[in-house]
Amino acid sequence: MKQKGLKTDHEMNYKKTNRPFQTVFLLTGALIFAAFAIFWHNGGGTVHSAGPNPVDTGAVTQKELDEINTFEPGAFENPERCAACHREIYDAWRGSKHRFAWEDPFYQPDYLKASHETEGFTDVFCGECHAPVARRTRQLPPPDGSLFDDISKAGVSCDFCHTVKEVVEPVNVKNISDPGRIKRGPRGDGRSPIHDVQFSDIHTEAAFCGSCHNVVHPASGAVVIDTYSDWEAGPYAREGITCQDCHMTPGPGVSKNPGKSSFMAKERAHVATHFFPGGSVFFQERAGNDEQAARAREMLEAAAVIETETETFENGTALLVRVKNVGAGHKIPTGVTYIRKMWLEVTATDAAGEVVFASGHVAEDNRVDPEAVLYQKIFRDGAGNLTPKSWLAEEIAYDRRIPPKGHDEQVFQIPANSGGKYRVTVRLMYRSMSQDAADALGIDGLRVPAVEMARAEIELG
Ligand code: HEC
Ligand code: HEC
Ligand code: HEC
Ligand code: HEC
Ligand code: HEC
Repeated sequence: MKQKGLKTDHEMNYKKTNRPFQTVFLLTGALIFAAFAIFWHNGGGTVHSAGPNPVDTGAVTQKELDEINTFEPGAFENPERCAACHREIYDAWRGSKHRFAWEDPFYQPDYLKASHETEGFTDVFCGECHAPVARRTRQLPPPDGSLFDDISKAGVSCDFCHTVKEVVEPVNVKNISDPGRIKRGPRGDGRSPIHDVQFSDIHTEAAFCGSCHNVVHPASGAVVIDTYSDWEAGPYAREGITCQDCHMTPGPGVSKNPGKSSFMAKERAHVATHFFPGGSVFFQERAGNDEQAARAREMLEAAAVIETETETFENGTALLVRVKNVGAGHKIPTGVTYIRKMWLEVTATDAAGEVVFASGHVAEDNRVDPEAVLYQKIFRDGAGNLTPKSWLAEEIAYDRRIPPKGHDEQVFQIPANSGGKYRVTVRLMYRSMSQDAADALGIDGLRVPAVEMARAEIELG
């Protein structure tokens, strides 16, 4: 059987242990980052045509944006203050990944490694998204967070989002902050004793999320995260179904949450929920947030279905597996898929329970079968090697993800049946981190469990 994919895990392991490659790799890294530094500090416009996916900075340069977005420490309010009146929203947000954008135990080691390998060139870039308040109040750098106050540590927090007044471009946090008395949101008709409210159309639009959920490498132009542009090009954008409709509602699909956003508020047909669930079952279980973990599992289970078709020949059965993305507004998986893993697990057993065919199984060392059908995006660095390091991304080496309302197909050859029936189980599996990525974090004994997203069972013969 010929599969479409690369033998990625295998190849990555090989490169990792290959010294001469590593040297070239580091040198290329240094070159990319010389370019990175020039771009970021000079305002960027000059690198427009540097890569296949140029960064269009629009009319405002990065330097101008940096100046507009510079505020005194304390300019953004502490989320604890909002909790007094917006309790439910606060409780939901507090367990969300936005709260942990900076303190995230999986982000920190990756970020510090990037900082170390690039001599600090990535600090500000990563921080723009993962510690936006710290960045805009100039508590970053230094990269270790030693200057952060509590508001900066709270990651992507209430007052950061609700004081955004303009999205310049939905990529690399190109938005404009206006912290102060006015809190912007989807209404404008409520009354609060402590702040003003203002209707803001951008808060109801996907581009608001897209300013962070679209990441382009500033030097190479490689597309690191494309959740927004993917959504924009797909069927949900055409139907007017936004990120908020799926990620700020109670269930995984479009649903409503009637009630009040505060005890002082008006009764509404829908109050935006702030759990922002994604695929992070493992992260949330580890953090002890069982409710959030259950929501993430629900999202993963709503994303896909598996269909099968079979055709029997003399020497066996051709099993066609079709994975359909029925629930996500963007490709599955999306986001930082270069460290995540989604794959197909196929098992055929005979009447005696003996395994006659297997693909995509997890080995003793918790690694997935390198021959598995693998859905993710993987980068190539400047020396042509595969790399899980976003900061070295020069181009996309491998991208097999399933578009919204689209599908992927794979044929498996199941050997001929020697009498009796075969039972075939097909499962779509997800890990929010591959075991390689987990090992690279250097957290002792970190074993990443898999979540089943979808399953199909059939009988042959
Ligand atoms: C003293 C109570 C109180 C506190 C504290 C408070 N709010 Fe509010 N806020 C309200 C009320 C009441 C409304 C009106 C809600 C309605 O009628 O729907 C409101 C509305 C809002 C809205 C909706 C804006 C719109 O019209 O779309 C946002 C956003 C908001 N608050 C953000 C915040 C943030 C951020 C904080 C913390 C920095 C905060 N609030 C602190 C009481 C409060
Ligand atoms: C990642 C950005 C983000 C963060 C963080 C965030 N919000 Fe929101 N919030 C939004 C968006 C976007 C909407 C509008 C959603 C919609 O229209 O469907 C919203 C809606 C609201 C509303 C209006 C609810 C309604 O439907 O009437 C209030 C009040 C509010 N947020 C308060 C808060 C508070 C308090 C916090 C912190 C505990 C917070 N938000 C954190 C993005 C954010
Ligand atoms: C200031 C930048 C910023 C904005 C604006 C923003 N996000 Fe995020 N979002 C992040 C970051 C950073 C993370 C990852 C945090 C981490 O895990 O370290 C994240 C995580 C998430 C996740 C969790 C993914 C998972 O793996 O579980 C979801 C879902 C999400 N965001 C949805 C939204 C939606 C919907 C909006 C718009 C209403 C939005 N975000 C706006 C920066 C942002
Ligand atoms: C039709 C509903 C729907 C829409 C619209 C939608 N999403 Fe999702 N999203 C999902 C589902 C279901 C998942 C879980 C599957 C997965 O993780 O890939 C998900 C997963 C995610 C994740 C987690 C990815 C991961 O596993 O790390 C992020 C981040 C995210 N969405 C952001 C967004 C943003 C930003 C937008 C708008 C540009 C958006 N989503 C639009 C349904 C939706
Ligand atoms: C423009 C915004 C943006 C920038 C800049 C950015 N990120 Fe992120 N990052 C995100 C978003 C959004 C997510 C969540 C996507 C998802 O869940 O798949 C994320 C998730 C991550 C995660 C996964 C965390 C987890 O718990 O799974 C890591 C690790 C990470 N980023 C590292 C970095 C590093 C290192 C840099 C700098 C080289 C960086 N990011 C720069 C937006 C950004």
